[in-house]
Amino acid sequence: MKFTVAIDGPAAAGKGTISRAVAAHFGFAHLDTGLLYRAVGARVLDGLDPVAAARSLTAGDLDRPDLRRPDVAQAASRVAAIPEVRAALVAFQRSFAARAGGAVLDGRDIGTVICPDAAVKLFVTASDLVRADRRYRELVEAGVETCLDEVLAEMRERDARDSARAAAPLKPAPDAVVLDTSELTIGQAVTAALAEIERRRAG
Ligand code: DC
Repeated sequence: MKFTVAIDGPAAAGKGTISRAVAAHFGFAHLDTGLLYRAVGARVLDGLDPVAAARSLTAGDLDRPDLRRPDVAQAASRVAAIPEVRAALVAFQRSFAARAGGAVLDGRDIGTVICPDAAVKLFVTASDLVRADRRYRELVEAGVETCLDEVLAEMRERDARDSARAAAPLKPAPDAVVLDTSELTIGQAVTAALAEIERRRAG
């Protein structure tokens, strides 16, 4: 059975956590599409041309330990504005979404461009400050030296670029259910997402 769940939203809104929990709960495969853009961004920081980097991406590029670094996130957001980079990554994402047994894809344009016919579309968001605080804690946990102001400024820059670009900008699909996680614990956010998906599966 093909059942695609599209989860979009800005940085650090909780997409990753919710997507992993949804995939584990229903036994669906999960693709963090941000990793594709991060892998292209990392290769560009290595000196490659963005379009060539996107067209020659391999599974090994997605395993690089540096993909979570803030400079790689910024590079990812910059390459993500190039239409040819996005085009090079479409087929892989769509074939992942179409796999039997169900799939969850999280990113920025899954409900709008990659899987406009997804069975469920969630747009996960939270206030800037809540998201920056979450990302700051993750980075500190991972041993990255930074401060909250820097994380907030970088996140705002990235969200502004991701939202303003002409090619597949970050925005909720007209039929997406918006889930604001600002005031929710991880458990509450996951419960709300699971309830919405259950509702669609039953209907
Ligand atoms: O989800 P993330 O923070 O790992 O994504 C990194 C960048 O990749 C993000 O700033 C914009 C880009 N991206 C995108 O343009 N489209 C997607 N579907 C996923 C990520």
